[in-house]
Amino acid sequence: MMTLMTGILGLGHHLGGWRHRDSWPDTVMNIEHAIWIAKEAERGKFDLVFIADGNAVRQMDKPALFAANSPSDRPAVFEPVTMLSAVAMFTKHIGLLATATTTYEEPYLLARKFASLDHLSKGRACWNIVTTSFPGDSVNFGKAEHAPRPDRYERAEEFVEVCKGLWDSWDAGAFIEDRATGRYLDPTKVRTLNHVGKHFSVQGPLNVARCPQGYPVMFMAGQSELGREFAAKSADCLFSVTDTIEAGKALYVDVKGRLAKYGRTPDQLRIMPGCSVYVGRTAAEADELYQELQSLISPELGVPYLSKMVNEKLDHLPLDGPMPDLSTEVNAISSFRKSISAMAQRDKLTIRQTYERVLPSMGHIVFKGSPTQVADEMEAWYTGKACDGFNVLVPVLPRGLTEFVDLVIPELQKRGLFKKEYSGRNLREGMGLPVPKNPYFARAS
Ligand SMILES: Cc1cc2nc3c(=O)[nH]c(=O)nc-3n(C[C@H](O)[C@H](O)[C@H](O)COP(=O)(O)O)c2cc1C
Repeated sequence: MMTLMTGILGLGHHLGGWRHRDSWPDTVMNIEHAIWIAKEAERGKFDLVFIADGNAVRQMDKPALFAANSPSDRPAVFEPVTMLSAVAMFTKHIGLLATATTTYEEPYLLARKFASLDHLSKGRACWNIVTTSFPGDSVNFGKAEHAPRPDRYERAEEFVEVCKGLWDSWDAGAFIEDRATGRYLDPTKVRTLNHVGKHFSVQGPLNVARCPQGYPVMFMAGQSELGREFAAKSADCLFSVTDTIEAGKALYVDVKGRLAKYGRTPDQLRIMPGCSVYVGRTAAEADELYQELQSLISPELGVPYLSKMVNEKLDHLPLDGPMPDLSTEVNAISSFRKSISAMAQRDKLTIRQTYERVLPSMGHIVFKGSPTQVADEMEAWYTGKACDGFNVLVPVLPRGLTEFVDLVIPELQKRGLFKKEYSGRNLREGMGLPVPKNPYFARAS
């Protein structure tokens, strides 16, 4: 069965989404919307809801874009674990995926936050492990420069190892609460980590009991060599950035082929591209929404938006001139830059044509049409082994999610591609991912 997830911010994923007449008018710091999205996604049997994150206010150097608020910039947003802890209280089954950075956090504090989320959600915590894509976050942590990619990944590897070690602090039955003997806990069922490494010294143990899932479900989004290798070693799911099914298949084969050397099987890492879905009862209805949203964006907004997506100044170049070749690396998010540049070179696009293509997709793939047309595309990617599921990006909220749940989910279920009910005692079991055993205690946890 395919894995499906969606975003939990109420803004919509098209740059013009929040201005559409069917969007929520009050999205700032709105926890009720987040709860509604999670419950609606749960009605559709989605596996997870997701919130991306950073630690800075972005785009202040692009005044038009800053004022218009691009969906991935989040100038006013809840801290993810805090937010999903609230959402956990109103949902039962859906996974709660919070982004947190290994570049600026501390492993003890973060391991504790995710362990807490896993307990209070009864086994639904997920961590999107990032090394921080926005270089401007560094100045909020006493650093003038964002560390280079190899240094960030080196710290990330050690960070994750420390977290796993901390999550293995306690055996599952350690807290016996035996009133008769007066033993609250069994001291033989706890272990001190004593980690001393290049980046961290952490003694442990963690002051949270063994998590229901063992470890939270772990996501990664890096597409570089280092990112792919890290995902193959440590992640349960990988966000992928590919604009054609052929590119999707190539990435799928590449990343899955890396798992064996870490003693893992290919099904232990799920590949999840983003897809923007424009669906209506008919293809014409879907197209109408698409055109309405596109008409809300002028070049004054489209160019800085594209510029942000590809990490390159473009406003000095002619709007109807060719999109420059941007295949070079940057010390930021390179995946969208490379994928958008490849698309523009392949299809010989101008700057205007490139931003018009990128707007509806946010750099991901677009599925547009009737429910059967959208399901056909999703089926082709899934059965063609270009992915294991999708991060469904909804252009206008709340309308888009309800339409997806009512129109596309039944079509996927009818084809046997998506589950009809939740199963398992926790998210890992429901998703068919292994529940890690605690290696330090003989009995299975
Ligand atoms: C779907 C998706 C979601 C992402 N979410 C975040 C995020 O919330 N915060 C962040 O700092 N980076 C995020 N990133 C960026 C990645 O974590 C990573 O830093 C980026 O892809 C660069 O890594 P690479 O150099 O290995 O490709 C995201 C990337 C993708 C594709």
